[in-house]
Amino acid sequence: MSTVTEAASDMPSSRYRPSQRVLHWLMAIVIISALAIGLYCSYLEPGTPLRRALLDVHKSLGMTALVLIAIRLPLRLSLGEPANRQPFGALVHYAARCTHMLLYVLMILMPLAGYVTSAAGGHDLPWFGLFQWPDLLPLDKPLEKVAARIHEYGAYCLYAILSLHVLAALWHHFFRRDGVLARML
Ligand code: HEM
Ligand code: HEM
Repeated sequence: MSTVTEAASDMPSSRYRPSQRVLHWLMAIVIISALAIGLYCSYLEPGTPLRRALLDVHKSLGMTALVLIAIRLPLRLSLGEPANRQPFGALVHYAARCTHMLLYVLMILMPLAGYVTSAAGGHDLPWFGLFQWPDLLPLDKPLEKVAARIHEYGAYCLYAILSLHVLAALWHHFFRRDGVLARML
């Protein structure tokens, strides 16, 4: 092996681990689909067959996100993040940190609030028509209302923070060309 290749292999990788990358993109697909379907459902008349069918898919995607985050969070805590390819200014660094932390909070809060809304309201908890998730809560209409409010305001936060996150990734890729997107590819 040449000296250059040896030196290169000694450098810490600037990419996330394969397991982290797979989970990031899998969850991105699941969460963006859940967001889009949830948003569409909010414009449909309650009780219509279309809204019910779409909410079943929405709940299935949301519960999938809950299972995936339960795997992803411990992985992130144990594996950490790769070193940056280029050192960023303190402001960019902390803005990215804050955004990522808020995304993690919302990835836990949104499915949990959705689950509580459905379980406390005595509604179905299907998973793609294959089985029902256990309903761990007694019927509690006031709790259903509070959880639905949290779910709704959490969705507004997610629209805002996710837009920032995606715009930042595109800005790094197309304007700064600093390889930030490649860390996740
Ligand atoms: C990442 C996960 C999730 C995201 C991003 C998400 C997003 C959304 C959005 C954007 C809406 C429409 C806004 C609103 O009315 O609140 C919504 C509604 C809803 N979601 Fe979720 N959701 C997720 C998980 C879940 C889960 C796991 C469940 C239940 C098991 C669930 C149940 C519901 C229900 C029942 C509604 C309709 C609420 C109503 O009209 O009062 N969601 N969700
Ligand atoms: C098209 C959509 C998306 C793009 C282009 C994208 C891009 C990226 C990139 C390039 C990174 C690495 C940033 C860095 O190294 O500093 C990253 C990290 C991250 N992304 Fe996304 N992302 C997308 C969707 C999402 C979604 C839907 C979520 C969750 C709601 C999400 C949550 C995160 C989190 C939490 C991190 C930090 C990873 C960690 O440190 O564990 N992303 N994303």
